[in-house]
Amino acid sequence: MSKGVTTLRLDRLLANLGYGSRREIQQLARAGAVTLDGVEIEDADQRIAITPDLSERMRVDDEPLDPPPGLALMLHKPLGVTCSHKEAGPLVYGLLPERWRRRDPAISTIGRLDKETSGLLLLTDDGALLHKVISPRHHVAKRYRVTLDRPLRGDEAGIFAAGTLMLEGEDKPLLPVQMETLSPTSAYVTLTEGRYHQVRRMFAAVGNHVTALHRDRIGGLTLPDDLQAGEYRILSDKDVALVFAPT
Ligand code: URA
Repeated sequence: MSKGVTTLRLDRLLANLGYGSRREIQQLARAGAVTLDGVEIEDADQRIAITPDLSERMRVDDEPLDPPPGLALMLHKPLGVTCSHKEAGPLVYGLLPERWRRRDPAISTIGRLDKETSGLLLLTDDGALLHKVISPRHHVAKRYRVTLDRPLRGDEAGIFAAGTLMLEGEDKPLLPVQMETLSPTSAYVTLTEGRYHQVRRMFAAVGNHVTALHRDRIGGLTLPDDLQAGEYRILSDKDVALVFAPT
């Protein structure tokens, strides 16, 4: 076996992917429901190399194996769902396959969007990736399309870019934010921080009110036009690299 490849016992692998208890997996395997490269694995103690192509090679009940650990996803978050594991009401995790909600390590959102914000949301079970995206050191830029209640005054872009804007209740100014006007009542803003309700509070600080907020880009990764609200897609290594690409 090549160095650096993680291996897991079959029962541990499938239990961690939410297929059942280790005892249930042992029964599944004994019944011949698990195959690797077309060959039944009846011994649930067998160690399996966790390679990115495992879903193409392993089948459970004649279905491709769920994505192995090290999963990253993009979701087109619809309005009205919450980025939380435990709050009441519809949660973003409810948009994923039911079995994925029983995985260990769990899939978590990378940062959050407000319940009433739509757009590009990343999720992963990889803690190192999560921290890399949200860490201020990596300056991953997030772009939002903002719709406003009142026409822009004209001085907002300068105020946001100055790096001196203080939000109510805070003691440190915001890092500079880039703004591009799209119409009298809409704009793109691009920020590298992720303070609580940041965009809504920035516009409140300049006397306006955000009526719609949609994130369409994280780093160099753009929400695809053909990914409808509520749909998700597994990210390739190339997609993940785009998140950190200079913008
Ligand atoms: N800023 C906000 O106000 N809300 C979000 O969901 C994201 C950024």
